[in-house]
Amino acid sequence: MPTPSMEDYLENIYKLIEQKGYARVSDIAEALEVHPSSVTKMVQKLDQSKYLVYEKYRGLVLTPKGKKIGKRLVDRHTLLEEFLRIIGVEEDLIYNDVEGIEHHLSWDSITCIEYLVEYFQKNPERIEELRALKEADELEDVNG
Ligand code: CO
Repeated sequence: MPTPSMEDYLENIYKLIEQKGYARVSDIAEALEVHPSSVTKMVQKLDQSKYLVYEKYRGLVLTPKGKKIGKRLVDRHTLLEEFLRIIGVEEDLIYNDVEGIEHHLSWDSITCIEYLVEYFQKNPERIEELRALKEADELEDVNG
């Protein structure tokens, strides 16, 4: 399995290729807010681990293994965003919170969260109940 840092790269490389059709070192550096030399180093490591093929002047291509895990990581990110949204986390906190937790959950936990999200999506009235619980509590805080 890739390390958390490798996961960040694979996730972003997959996303860039989906969006633009390619992922350049400079694009990856920008997306991850790191120095291009760090990207080159990591890309070489991902090449050695057979997640992608890196050719200095032609850019990089994900291998089938890299594509598979990349998609899984992007889907995991999307799922966790949806999960936080459902439980009522504020929109401007969601992205960074997901970045903070996504590498630290087991795939078993991810699967359980997937069922929870599915449950709430099938029973939107439960989401309303959950929100009402939070709102009642917040109201109580305001009123003392
Ligand atoms: Co992410």
